[in-house]
Amino acid sequence: MSEKSSSSVKGTFEATASSNKQFGPRFYKLKLEFSADGAKAFADFNPGQFAELDLSHTALPPEDSIPEDLRDAAERKILLRRPFSFTNVTAEKNKTIAELLYCVVGPATLRMTTISPGDSLSVIGPLGNGFSVPDGKKTALLVVGGMGVPPLLHLAKHITSGSRTPGLDIIAFAGAKTAKELPFESQLDEISQQLGFSIPEFAKYGVESFVATDDGSAGYNGFVTNCLAEWLSKSPLPAKDIIIYSCGPELMLAKMAQLVKEKNIDCQLSLERRMACGIGLCQSCAVECRVTGSNETVYKMCCKDGPVFDSKEVVF
Ligand SMILES: Cc1cc2nc3c(=O)[nH]c(=O)nc-3n(C[C@H](O)[C@H](O)[C@H](O)COP(=O)(O)OP(=O)(O)OC[C@H]3O[C@@H](n4cnc5c(N)ncnc54)[C@H](O)[C@@H]3O)c2cc1C
Ligand code: FES
Repeated sequence: MSEKSSSSVKGTFEATASSNKQFGPRFYKLKLEFSADGAKAFADFNPGQFAELDLSHTALPPEDSIPEDLRDAAERKILLRRPFSFTNVTAEKNKTIAELLYCVVGPATLRMTTISPGDSLSVIGPLGNGFSVPDGKKTALLVVGGMGVPPLLHLAKHITSGSRTPGLDIIAFAGAKTAKELPFESQLDEISQQLGFSIPEFAKYGVESFVATDDGSAGYNGFVTNCLAEWLSKSPLPAKDIIIYSCGPELMLAKMAQLVKEKNIDCQLSLERRMACGIGLCQSCAVECRVTGSNETVYKMCCKDGPVFDSKEVVF
């Protein structure tokens, strides 16, 4: 995966849900199965790409199980598809299984909680451009804020299971406001934290990881970008050997872009803009980008030209 990757066989496909499990108050894991042409298209899904789900026909949960803060939003009609990354994609002989991690934040994600095994969903994808690993890098640092986890978990699997990136070490840094807002299923235990394998979801790929919380309720006490900055200041690794991949809230990505500029480290950011069409037509996801070698800027579409951008390119 040394080139920026985008799939040429995107389309609209039917997927069948095989499970939809809750963990934590607002986090869920949904498994989708694609067959026939959908299986072929999604078999090539690259970490950082995304899919648009049609949730317009998905039912609301019973009124008494709708969280208080979402009662008003729950009634809103779902006119537009919603974009989601995958945490894992497995291609088998006749089917492709895509795993999605989602957080309930509004009317569409609230409806997703009622999806049951056997339900059918219309999915457009694979969309956008994924992450790439430039030649010559020795260490990949994955830096995640809140719900930015899915594409980077997928990237961790992709790098560790691929034969095209031998010898690339990976370390993950995951941050959230509090321990409860870390979107991981497994509990963080103290011994694995001391050993630097705090997050079982990354540890299963042999990836060392560090946790940071703004309130200090788990791991490093402070922003994940500060945790990374301290780690970098102690690291003997030359900047040219490192590549950083990051996904999370835009404020965090802006801090990442500033930090890597100061340290002269290559970095790819996955931006999460509000999206409508998902294919570059409606212009609702415009990102201001610098033009190399000039003071000018242009608007690129997050859905079509991104969502992964070089950190040097984006104007925050
Ligand atoms: C490329 C991409 C990949 C994504 N992958 C995932 C994923 O793997 N798991 C996941 O849970 N979510 C993911 N999201 C976000 C997801 O699309 C939104 O949470 C979802 O559309 C919310 O729909 P809703 O109707 O439930 O809430 P809405 O009412 O649409 O939104 C609820 C709140 O979330 C904010 N919000 C919604 N979408 C975004 C966004 N894109 N960026 C910043 N704030 C937003 C809104 O401003 C609002 O405050 C991704 C978004 C993008 C662009
Ligand atoms: S979502 Fe329509 S142009 Fe990007």
